[in-house]
Amino acid sequence: MQQSQWSSRLGYILAAAGSAVGLGAIWKFPYVTAANGGGAFLLVFLLFSFTLGVAVLMGETLLGSRSRRGVVGALSSLAGPHWRWLGVMGLVCSLLIFCFYSVVGGWTLGYTGMALAGSLNSGDGAALTARFNDYVGDPVWPLLTHLLFAALAWCCVQGGVQKGVERTLRWMMPSLLIMMVLLAAVGLTLPGAMAGVRHFLLPDFSKLGMNGVLDALGLAFFSLSIGLGIHTTYGAYLSDSEGVGRSSLWVVLLASLIAVLAGLMIFPVLAATGIDPAAGPGLTFMTMPAVFQKLPFGQGLATLFFALLVVAALSSAISLLEHLQCFISESWGWRRRASCTLIIALVMAGGIPVSLSFGPWSGVTLFGRNIFELLDFVTSNLMMPLFGLGLTLLLGWKLGRQILPRGLGLSWQTLLLGCWRWLAPLLIGGILIRGLV
Ligand code: PHE
Ligand code: NA
Repeated sequence: MQQSQWSSRLGYILAAAGSAVGLGAIWKFPYVTAANGGGAFLLVFLLFSFTLGVAVLMGETLLGSRSRRGVVGALSSLAGPHWRWLGVMGLVCSLLIFCFYSVVGGWTLGYTGMALAGSLNSGDGAALTARFNDYVGDPVWPLLTHLLFAALAWCCVQGGVQKGVERTLRWMMPSLLIMMVLLAAVGLTLPGAMAGVRHFLLPDFSKLGMNGVLDALGLAFFSLSIGLGIHTTYGAYLSDSEGVGRSSLWVVLLASLIAVLAGLMIFPVLAATGIDPAAGPGLTFMTMPAVFQKLPFGQGLATLFFALLVVAALSSAISLLEHLQCFISESWGWRRRASCTLIIALVMAGGIPVSLSFGPWSGVTLFGRNIFELLDFVTSNLMMPLFGLGLTLLLGWKLGRQILPRGLGLSWQTLLLGCWRWLAPLLIGGILIRGLV
């Protein structure tokens, strides 16, 4: 049983939302949405988040708060020893995600440094694109920032749940929100902004194929941090299940809000700078400096923006580490610091090939995907939805009512059970099958 506990319900919500809101919304969402044609993709993404997302998020959290254990312990004690393998898959997937997350987290550190030094102050769209490619293609810098980012996560988690995780998030979430609203407002005044907004918001379903739908599903899982059991770990530190429904809704609401804000922040800038919407993983890093160049105190604001991005990334990395750490401490009896060290060592090593795949190793491919793209696809589009599929089948057909949170109204109970039993498994299963073959 878990001894650790959140100091308050707000602390828990901040941590769960902090895990969700991160590079997924601000870095991944814009370029994946752009690659899939905009509006229609956004709609499907939001639909998935508010149906499947809420249902899986609640299910994961309830598993934790019922058993007071991390994901493997929770599954084997509530559902039986075989179900632990579902948890193991979630843990393996967490480790894989952590490897590339730390690389991109490192980019945010690097860009904070560049903003501070003033090297983002000038240059048009083409120059900003080249600057990004130079940065990630360098054989040394992105590796160093990756290692630094992983080390920062270690520092935050080895101190424990209340001190490490909660404290940072209290001021980070509000500052990030305010800053993004401001930036979106500025972006909207740029020439050509409205074309970008239309591209982002107006659905055109002819641009969305079955692969796009699978991408939307994967992105919804990724941006909510579901499909790994992270919320089971965070739920295990809750004292009871009351209010889990409401806090899950809050998390989805906040994460979607930030994603939409990120879209409003980035799409208007594309037309004004001529940056290619299909630029891929560099999109946010290329567009945002152009906005700051137009602003008074641009250098300071750019530094602040990338620093906030570091914190947003860090709070998500913290949840990955806490999750993996929780498993090792629970099942092997290691102390927190030792398990954190082992995991970070693995992440540091695993991130190196990922980082190189943006530069010197970009030619190393399998099934037409480089190392980063492969990891991203396998985790977001395969493993996380599979976990969600297994989990909802378990919740809907085996655990059922016994796991519903205290104080949930009858109609909500029916809705949730229906989602676990039918909607989620059929939808996830269907998309996985159609998207893969
Ligand atoms: N949800 C996080 C983000 O959007 C990423 C993440 C995925 C974190 C999975 C933890 C687990 O940045
Ligand atoms: Na975060």
